[in-house]
Amino acid sequence: MNITTAIETRRSFRQFDPNHEISEAEIERLIALTMLSPTPGNTQPWRFVVVRDAALRNYIRAAASGQAQVTDASVLIILTADLSAWRTEPERYARTTGPEMSKILAKSMTDFYKDREWLQRDDAMKSTGLAAMTLMLAAKELGYESCPMGGFDIDAVGRLINLPSDHVISMFVTIGKPVADAYPRGGQLPIEEVVVRDRFA
Ligand SMILES: Cc1cc2nc3c(=O)[nH]c(=O)nc-3n(C[C@H](O)[C@H](O)[C@H](O)COP(=O)(O)O)c2cc1C
Repeated sequence: MNITTAIETRRSFRQFDPNHEISEAEIERLIALTMLSPTPGNTQPWRFVVVRDAALRNYIRAAASGQAQVTDASVLIILTADLSAWRTEPERYARTTGPEMSKILAKSMTDFYKDREWLQRDDAMKSTGLAAMTLMLAAKELGYESCPMGGFDIDAVGRLINLPSDHVISMFVTIGKPVADAYPRGGQLPIEEVVVRDRFA
């Protein structure tokens, strides 16, 4: 599938076939493609919680206002991020550049993030947001549809998945085989409203 088709046909599907099983190999392929998304300094703060346990998904659905995608999609992926990723062996993030350069880059990461919790969080959300889009487009390539989700009780879901205290939950992406069409598009805003030429007035 070419990129334009994937972008144009990706929609938020909300009714999935609960009996369709996605294979581990397919999930691994989706995650491997998603992991090629960009992150600041290649820190890869994302931690993808792949939820297949039916009982757990029932609890998570309850924490998501009962939204059916949570249990009926073939897989629920919770995009979380490790806010400490930038300082956990940062030499790893440029290990192919050689020990000298990787040390220099690791220090620059530390200087950038140290004592700036707001930036650690912003960048975690940017990175997982980009990953979510890659994941949804990769799902199209594999013949699946998806729904991004933010409508859930973050604290309750955090407790259900034992979220570590230095991690955050960004969003869900549910992936499966749809049994109903997506809603008609809500309509995009006029391009003149969303594009600013050079600077705001
Ligand atoms: C951060 C975020 C949170 C969302 N949360 C939900 C949600 O909880 N439930 C849902 O059905 N759709 C959710 N959506 C999907 C949006 O409603 C959908 O993307 C939007 O209406 C545009 O439709 P489209 O994705 O089909 O183009 C969410 C989308 C985003 C980006």
